[in-house]
Amino acid sequence: MNDFVRIVEVGPRDGLQNEKTHVATADKIQLIGRLSATGLKTIEATSFVSPRWVPQLADAAEVYAGIQRRPGVAYPVLVPNEQGYERALAVGVREVAVFTAASEQFNRTNTNAGIDESLQRFAPILARAAADGVKVRGYVSTVLGCPYQGEVPLADVVRVAAALHRMGCYEVSLGDTIGVGTPRKARTMLKAVAAEVPVDALALHFHDTYGQALANIASCLEEGVRVVDAAVSGAGGCPYARGASGNVASEDVVYMLHGMGIETGVDLLALAETGRWLAGRLGRETGSRTGRALAPT
Ligand code: HMG
Ligand code: MG
Repeated sequence: MNDFVRIVEVGPRDGLQNEKTHVATADKIQLIGRLSATGLKTIEATSFVSPRWVPQLADAAEVYAGIQRRPGVAYPVLVPNEQGYERALAVGVREVAVFTAASEQFNRTNTNAGIDESLQRFAPILARAAADGVKVRGYVSTVLGCPYQGEVPLADVVRVAAALHRMGCYEVSLGDTIGVGTPRKARTMLKAVAAEVPVDALALHFHDTYGQALANIASCLEEGVRVVDAAVSGAGGCPYARGASGNVASEDVVYMLHGMGIETGVDLLALAETGRWLAGRLGRETGSRTGRALAPT
């Protein structure tokens, strides 16, 4: 293989949203600055959700306003509703991500709305974004299992992913929110979704609870998907998904891809150094094995 995977770095959002340790606004801005210098082309910067639901990201507007934006790098933010969209627009955001799930109870716990209700919430966001020239990405959570209902039927994953794409999301990211997937199951899921949504409009978003995320990614690459979400230092998790651990570590994904002859445009050493820096701010060792292996002795 000699091709390219775009990494969507979600550390500043998914990584930090579940952190108990308060992270200073200046550190969040510095994290995004460091990530911007590694060659990453997409960095999810923060989240304009309710500050009561996710207090860690209550400073979203200050963070976004403080970023030194690099030309050629996109800085999407999460928005749950029109109010979030308006807050984002007010600070000049050019790309947002909406999020729902393939399982009803998870979506209610995460956003206080059923799946269809959340899709209805997104319709005005997509209409306004089209008029404002803002790009919209969509997330489907619990694609390989739900903390409340357990197994999630493939048909439900396909239905929600196709709905987001039909509504105008340029890319739909498939979230194994609680990291329960395994390679064959992940690939089967991707294949089913790719029958309804073009594979080049799909992304993988795998958490690493059971250490399966890299294997799942490698398996799904065989189906042609070329966008992978990951969080530097393996930080993260969803505060409304019981048992959810961090995202797959960006450093580990980049190491694997480069080893497979797939380009990412990312400077692995700089990324690993950023992951160790972040871990230091959080008062622990990096969650990336690659980051530890590459640490200077
Ligand atoms: P709600 O309580 O039903 O909201 O929450 P509401 O519309 O009834 O409003 C209640 C109050 O919240 C009001 O304030 C609103 O103004 C305020 P009050 O009048 O009481 O003072 N409010 C807001 N404030 C700021 N920004 C907003 C906003 N919206 C309402 N945007 C809501 C509904 C969707 C807002 C809430 O449930 C929420 O914010 N949920 C987000 C939870 C979250 O961020 N979860 C993690 C992200 S998803 C994830 O991690 C999964 C992913 O990584 C993929 C994967 O791994 O699977 C993406
Ligand atoms: Mg996530």
